[in-house]
Amino acid sequence: MILNGAHVVLGVTGGIACYKAVDLASKLVQAGATVDVIMTEGATQFVTPLPFQTITKRPVSIDMFQLLRDTDMAHISLSARADVLVIAPATANTIAKIVHGLADNLLTSTVLATTAPLVIAPAMDADMWANPVTAENVATLRRRGATIVGPGEGRLASGRIGAGRLVATEEILAAIRQTLGRNGPLAGLRVVISAGGTQEPLDPVRHVGNRSSGRMGYALAEAARDYGAQVTLVTAPTGLPPVYGVDTVPVRTAAEMHDAVIDRLDATDVLIMAAAVADYRPAHTAEHKIKKQDGELVLRLERTVDILAAVAKRRTGPADGKIIVGFAAETENLLENARDKLLRKRLDLLVANDVSASDSGFEVATNRVTLLTPDGAPDPLPLLPKEEVAERILDRVAALWRASHG
Ligand code: CTP
Repeated sequence: MILNGAHVVLGVTGGIACYKAVDLASKLVQAGATVDVIMTEGATQFVTPLPFQTITKRPVSIDMFQLLRDTDMAHISLSARADVLVIAPATANTIAKIVHGLADNLLTSTVLATTAPLVIAPAMDADMWANPVTAENVATLRRRGATIVGPGEGRLASGRIGAGRLVATEEILAAIRQTLGRNGPLAGLRVVISAGGTQEPLDPVRHVGNRSSGRMGYALAEAARDYGAQVTLVTAPTGLPPVYGVDTVPVRTAAEMHDAVIDRLDATDVLIMAAAVADYRPAHTAEHKIKKQDGELVLRLERTVDILAAVAKRRTGPADGKIIVGFAAETENLLENARDKLLRKRLDLLVANDVSASDSGFEVATNRVTLLTPDGAPDPLPLLPKEEVAERILDRVAALWRASHG
């Protein structure tokens, strides 16, 4: 995980959302990051440094002059050490100061001195956010390369409903991960990932589906984003929350997924078909709900389009420069069936998993897969969380890309 070993400087400015920054610091530390917190005087009116210090196990910096006495040039050393500088919550006042290069406290001085990327999570009342001055300031920061995450909409401290809430910790973490990974192993590549199980309608309220939860595809989308890729997630319905920083294309049926993938194929460098696409669909979709009757109900099914076969047909061969990755969910003869699929679908990489095991495959958080390429021996991976499986798959994709593009 990209946060493991990263050095994060977390700036906390004076807003009621300050208390949520404690949770952010905690999650960063849990993910393996070293976190140095800088608070403004305003922030200390809302929370004390103690929870941050306890969680990060590092001193919290507030007073520029105290620090100048204690260490040599604290703001310079903090700014030089940071892999990323995060400000959450960021008040309108601090945003304005940063835009104009003011350095009147330890945080703004550190921002001015650092070359690390900035992630800013604004939080303020709706009127301050809507003010054209703030809007211009935020646009300026974006133009200069800062990542602005949020604000969200909802109930504000003032009791009003509007834009200005600090976004959820998970979203800020995702923005930090994406920012840290922007020069990663897939930087600049356009990656399309399909996920979830397609649903083939029987009538307006029923469908033929499968047990895919979408977790493997979503984990791949997150990991590809953190590896620097520009990610499009073509997803069948899942119960999963949207993935921050990826372009999501919702689809339902195999036919819709086919169109979404094929439409984007020319502008795709890497295609990963992690979706469980239905091979059959009801030959007839009833216009109205099918009412129960005595006796049997016989369903006639017809073949759906095979998306990877359609992709293979459009390929001009490996020389087209694309990396096409398929999955094979098998319950018997795993390697034999997988190798057959790899060749038949002209894939560059196939991820084979035995879905009959209870700790691997559908609806569980772990997976045990074997990676197959046209040349080279099968590479069995141990049982791993799906997030780690995703990274291993993408490491292989990055290696294949480097091998074919130098
Ligand atoms: N796939 C696809 N279009 C389909 C069915 C599957 O593109 N209509 C893709 C899946 O996303 C996966 C790969 O093909 O990446 C293999 O899917 P799987 O269902 O295991 O294989 P099939 O080729 O359908 O073969 P079978 O069902 O006979 O095992």
